[in-house]
Amino acid sequence: MSPIIHHLSKNESLSKTMAAQQFSFDVLAGLSDTPKRLSSKYFYDAEGSRLFTEITKLEEYYPTRLEAEILEQHKGAIAHQLKGRSVNLIDLGAGDGQKTLILLRHFQQEGIDVKFVPIDISEAAIAGLLDVIKSEFPKMECEGLVSEYFRGIHWLNTQQDDRVNLVLFLGSNIGNFDKSHARAHLRQMWTVLNPDDLLLVGFDLKKDIDLLLHAYNDSKGVTAKFNLNLLRRINNELGGNFDLSKFRHFSTYNVFSGAVESYLVSLEEQDVKIDALEIKFHFRAWEPIHTEYSYKYLKSDIHALAENTGFQIDAEYFDTKQHFVDSLLRVKKIDS
Ligand code: AVJ
Repeated sequence: MSPIIHHLSKNESLSKTMAAQQFSFDVLAGLSDTPKRLSSKYFYDAEGSRLFTEITKLEEYYPTRLEAEILEQHKGAIAHQLKGRSVNLIDLGAGDGQKTLILLRHFQQEGIDVKFVPIDISEAAIAGLLDVIKSEFPKMECEGLVSEYFRGIHWLNTQQDDRVNLVLFLGSNIGNFDKSHARAHLRQMWTVLNPDDLLLVGFDLKKDIDLLLHAYNDSKGVTAKFNLNLLRRINNELGGNFDLSKFRHFSTYNVFSGAVESYLVSLEEQDVKIDALEIKFHFRAWEPIHTEYSYKYLKSDIHALAENTGFQIDAEYFDTKQHFVDSLLRVKKIDS
């Protein structure tokens, strides 16, 4: 049997134009704002995805390594929760998919019937991931979606099958949302999911501040390159003339908001023009552009979040030092 793989190719050129337009609107709005800002969702062009994968292999960037350990240790328990049912495995922001593979291999071994639905903003990531899955699991039904999480939610809404949905939201991707958006996102998921569907969410926990700072200021400067790549992307796709050597990466931990905050700081007074916008942006010396929030959680924050959005916490899988947790959340509705 040949694999069924649906790419979002029907309107590809149209959606590509729309995506490019959205990018240029967001850059215009963000760089016109005071203080200046750009969204972290735009980090992931092909080069950005490659750099992020490089980050995940750094000693200092603990989340990916710890979560892979957690999944290895608890894949049996997670499979057990599926009670032998067929599964839609919906993977939000899978990236290179290494952690997803830990689960898929185990589910395959246990003879669990899986339909795999990876959703990622990076087209390169989805294409690469589907290649890996196709070669390792030639019979697995797959439907890769290049989009924001929203489309995943929409996809769920259109599905009428008797598979249990297991949504993976791993890697502390939820950390890019502020706390109220995280709540809204989980509640939106709850709305389109069926009673007893499952959500496995990776949260980075509050911990020693130096560990946090090192994770986002690595000694090889990969995170700095990753952050600066956003300017390169604007140069490439919107005809910008950012000189990357005139900006520096800066990440700090805000104990009060609970987020690692990342910035690009202009090292001198300068003008940058962006052809696609026909605008010149002025930067003062030491003026920042905010680029990313990475929110960190207390266990009690996660309990409150689950409670406020209609989920029951079925299990919490920690690493030995409790630096990271994968929370298995079950959809509870009145009739369940
Ligand atoms: C992919 C959003 C989880 O916030 O830790 C890594 C991205 N940024 N280093 C994170 C990131 C800087 C990462 N997430």
